Amino acid sequence: MRIAVAGATGNIGSFTVAALEGAGHDVVRISRSLGVDLLTGDGLDDALAGVDAVVDVTNGPATDRAATVAYFDTATRTLLAAEAHAGVRHHVLLSIVGIGRVEGNAHYAGKREQERLVAAGSVPWTIVPATQFHDFAGMVASWTEQDGVATIAPLLVQPIAPSDLGDVLAELAVGQPRGRYVDVAGPGTQDLVDMARRTNDALGRKMALVPTWTGLFDETMAGSVLLPGEGARIAPTSFEDWLATQR
Ligand SMILES: NC(=O)c1ccc[n+]([C@@H]2O[C@H](COP(=O)([O-])OP(=O)(O)OC[C@H]3O[C@@H](n4cnc5c(N)ncnc54)[C@H](OP(=O)(O)O)[C@@H]3O)[C@@H](O)[C@H]2O)c1
Repeated sequence: MRIAVAGATGNIGSFTVAALEGAGHDVVRISRSLGVDLLTGDGLDDALAGVDAVVDVTNGPATDRAATVAYFDTATRTLLAAEAHAGVRHHVLLSIVGIGRVEGNAHYAGKREQERLVAAGSVPWTIVPATQFHDFAGMVASWTEQDGVATIAPLLVQPIAPSDLGDVLAELAVGQPRGRYVDVAGPGTQDLVDMARRTNDALGRKMALVPTWTGLFDETMAGSVLLPGEGARIAPTSFEDWLATQR
């Protein structure tokens, strides 16, 4: 099959491309650095010519709510319109577990808008809600790090290996549209502060971590809010096994 990956150069996108190509599919890579922009539509019609399915693993801003919602709104409308024009038969969207349970987070508001447009659109779809990635804790700590001190929320998460998620998205993209797919998660629950500490140790980063709910993630995300629901699909690679590959 001919499959386009929007966000092909990103964290999950590169693993999705590798999984699709490993299974013998013809992959079209979409990203701004490769000359295709979902916001303006530049290069999109050419990229989608002859494409059977599209996997959307692009990312948007995370802090300002209005800017984030506007970003996902424009990018998703532009992509879906181009898909309809090109006769694409399946749109696969990577989303996040629990976004309907958290009101205040700007990125989650953008993802809800993205889900709404996909579900209301004319291209048959699969929405894949995934938990945080194994590299999420290290990334979040690096956002706030200043002079060797970083604040980080003590979130309870059940993280997944990016390569496992790439495999799941590749498998779903070549199948029939599934509507809302089950939650996809890794095998074990983790405390985000502990994950960040172990990630920093593995990478040799010296950083003091201050647990707090005052940043992008507040108390409405505490407890089991971000954990996968019943019947979730559990991917194999543990945080510990992933960490061992990062040293
Ligand atoms: N982080 C987590 O723990 C987590 C958990 C569950 C779900 N998710 C979701 O996973 C998705 C992917 O995350 P990620 O970390 O893999 O993203 P990422 O590494 O930041 O990659 C984003 C990709 O999107 C491309 N892109 C961004 N804007 C674009 C535009 N206007 N037009 C075309 N391409 C564009 C980027 O390339 P260019 O810059 O070259 O355009 C890049 O290839 C996000 O939507 C996020 O909400 C994240």
